[in-house]
Amino acid sequence: MIIDLRSDTVTLPSPAMREAMYRAELGDDVYGEDPTINRLQELAAQRTGKEAALFVPSGTMGNTAAILAHAGRGEAVMVGNQSHIYHYEVGGASTVGGSPMYVVPTDAKGMLDLHQVEVGISDGSDEHTAPTALLCIENTHNRCGGAVLHVEQIEALARLAHAHGVKVHMDGARIFNAATALGVPVSTLAQPVDSMMFCLSKGLSAPVGSMLVGSREFIFKAHRMRKLLGGGMRQAGVLAAAGIVALEQMVERLAEDHENCKRFAFGLADFPQIDVDVDRVVTNIVNFSVRNARQERLTDAETMQFLAKAREHGVLMGTTGEGTIRAVTHYGLAADDITAALTGIRRALIDMQIA
Ligand SMILES: Cc1ncc(COP(=O)(O)O)c(C=O)c1O
Repeated sequence: MIIDLRSDTVTLPSPAMREAMYRAELGDDVYGEDPTINRLQELAAQRTGKEAALFVPSGTMGNTAAILAHAGRGEAVMVGNQSHIYHYEVGGASTVGGSPMYVVPTDAKGMLDLHQVEVGISDGSDEHTAPTALLCIENTHNRCGGAVLHVEQIEALARLAHAHGVKVHMDGARIFNAATALGVPVSTLAQPVDSMMFCLSKGLSAPVGSMLVGSREFIFKAHRMRKLLGGGMRQAGVLAAAGIVALEQMVERLAEDHENCKRFAFGLADFPQIDVDVDRVVTNIVNFSVRNARQERLTDAETMQFLAKAREHGVLMGTTGEGTIRAVTHYGLAADDITAALTGIRRALIDMQIA
């Protein structure tokens, strides 16, 4: 049996989602006539406490459309040096939007350095610098092991940006995980920011789709940018139907993924050759590293070897580079699977002769 811990994007739709997809009422969404998409958009706006929402095919398109809607060509977008937007979205803000990315440091818990944000904001009065239009933040933070930004941190960042006339976009791909970990409604976390993207296709287990939320004016602009990016879909209500089930039925169970992740992290901590900070595991992602026989962190080549061995023993995981291994818990994995995954990892360590 394979236990796939590479990402929560590997989740398959629930039986209720498949049923809802089969029965979905459809229309042409480019004409705004797909009743299921319209219902999902209303529900997303309502859940996040924003005026309006837009269904987009992916998180990457949602973030890119948001950046294009907020920042004009030649206007700078500030991003964290560990952010998904900076690392993994093909530089869309710059390549498609014409916005230079100004990069600020991120601490281990996904928080941006407030001082660096402040000194990095340009009001455009100096002709050498691109004026800053937008600050992007990420919650939960993918590369920082699913770390959560608290509402006070989001407020501090938004207050600072807004004081300089800069808008704030939150990459909330896993915002429902953040809300679950903090025990607050998603609307509380979304309140300080001008726009947010969240994914239906990760922990919430829908097969496809993300949402952009914000003011009516922002969504109007983002709608045009979605069209520009090729994201105007037609009878996409078949996908939105699963999204509605995701929001109505899959949020409460996220706590189970967090418990499984914590259990997995504690199991990893029992291996003398594995370094993991269990206190950092607050949602469904755990980052860890393995030491070789020389007591050094695995090199990239050794990491690939370890991942291949783990795969041979039925456990799939990924790496974010420099010997960091990432595992993500999700719908479809039970406590027993966590035990089995730990057994697979023990065998991989033995094969590598570092157990
Ligand atoms: C934090 C974060 N933002 C954005 C995305 C992009 O989502 P998608 O894969 O749907 O484009 C991801 C995907 O893993 C992510 O982890």
